[in-house]
Amino acid sequence: MRKMLWYAALWVLALSACTRGGRDEAVGEEQRLYEQARTYLFPLPATDSLRDTAMERLGARLYEEKALSLDSTVSCATCHPVAHYGVDGKPVSEGIMGRRGTRNAPTTFFSGYYLAQFWDGRAKDLEHQVTGPLTNPNEMGLPDTNRAVSRLRRSVSYRRHFLRVFGDSVVTYSRLANAIAAYERSLVTETRLDAYLRGDLDALGPDEKAGLRIMLDKGCIPCHSGTAMGGALYQKFGIFDDYRRQLGHVVQDSGRMAVTGLEQDRDVYKVPSLRNIVHTAPYFHDGSVSRLEDAIRIMGRLQVGMELSGKEVRLIRRFLEAASVPSDSLSVDENGRLLRDRGALGG
Ligand code: HEC
Ligand code: HEC
Repeated sequence: MRKMLWYAALWVLALSACTRGGRDEAVGEEQRLYEQARTYLFPLPATDSLRDTAMERLGARLYEEKALSLDSTVSCATCHPVAHYGVDGKPVSEGIMGRRGTRNAPTTFFSGYYLAQFWDGRAKDLEHQVTGPLTNPNEMGLPDTNRAVSRLRRSVSYRRHFLRVFGDSVVTYSRLANAIAAYERSLVTETRLDAYLRGDLDALGPDEKAGLRIMLDKGCIPCHSGTAMGGALYQKFGIFDDYRRQLGHVVQDSGRMAVTGLEQDRDVYKVPSLRNIVHTAPYFHDGSVSRLEDAIRIMGRLQVGMELSGKEVRLIRRFLEAASVPSDSLSVDENGRLLRDRGALGG
């Protein structure tokens, strides 16, 4: 009898050591996943999502201002509506008089974190980017930036707003650009991914973590890195095959080569942000792919030379959902400003 008890005790001990071993391993993998993710991905700085300044409010107003287009029909918000995650949802945008450009409108959300602006990085920062759409004949169509300034100068209400922000009522182009840029820097969203990256390892569920693990193992994350999960580097689109073959049609776009003149920059683009990606279809610089699952599969083929399984694609999508604010939590006030109430955006 004593012997039997002795064996039973040993057995219980062995069993508990075994499960503890299993648990230690699981904890080890959880910790490894977190540490690996943290080498590439950064959470939104805690203070960033809570700023709200008079400058940003002026920028929000200018962002919505149709008088900044030639026939007063188009504003920045026409193609980058904040209530729709900063995108127009069209393959390529339509500007004044229905004129079409050649590229898909990327989101303005998280653009403050990019190394440069536009798909090809031709504007060095948000302040310099503003001139592009204002004077692009297919977008807002003004003959020059002076026209924007002279239109605002006529408005008493704008002069008052400039006085409040800058201490005098002089409307200048650089003030206009600075205000819009300040507003764009405020267009950030907080999700469960941020809570995870700040150290709350339970903020992501098992499928989401599995998706993150796949994106790390396949090498997606080193490109889609930083706070914005993109915007930190330029990379060739189509490392393992010409993207035109995958997307099924011929696109006249040489990418960053048009900016640098260097052959090595042919088909090179700024890596886009994957924040809120489930809401910013269609995808790629030409807006040719409308389903996120297809975009993920194409990335597997073109960028990491792998055919992803249906399950892998589904898990990657699950992870990307955790980095996207659900649409019922994206709150925008009556002026079109993004409300950055963290409670509401908890994800
Ligand atoms: C007619 C539609 C349209 C209008 C109006 C428009 N944009 Fe854009 N925006 C685009 C397109 C298309 C691109 C991409 C062009 C490219 O990369 O060559 C873009 C790119 C950008 C980018 C770069 C984002 C990135 O991922 O690099 C920012 C920032 C931006 N726009 C802000 C603005 C602001 C500010 C205004 C108003 C002054 C504005 N846009 C007006 C269509 C538009
Ligand atoms: C070598 C760098 C690199 C790697 C690796 C990479 N990407 Fe990308 N990704 C890019 C570039 C560059 C683009 C923009 C292509 C274009 O439209 O010109 C992009 C675009 C995307 C888009 C579409 C974004 C949009 O707004 O249109 C998604 C989604 C995406 N990648 C997901 C992934 C996934 C998932 C993986 C891993 C299987 C991956 N990427 C691996 C560089 C990379």
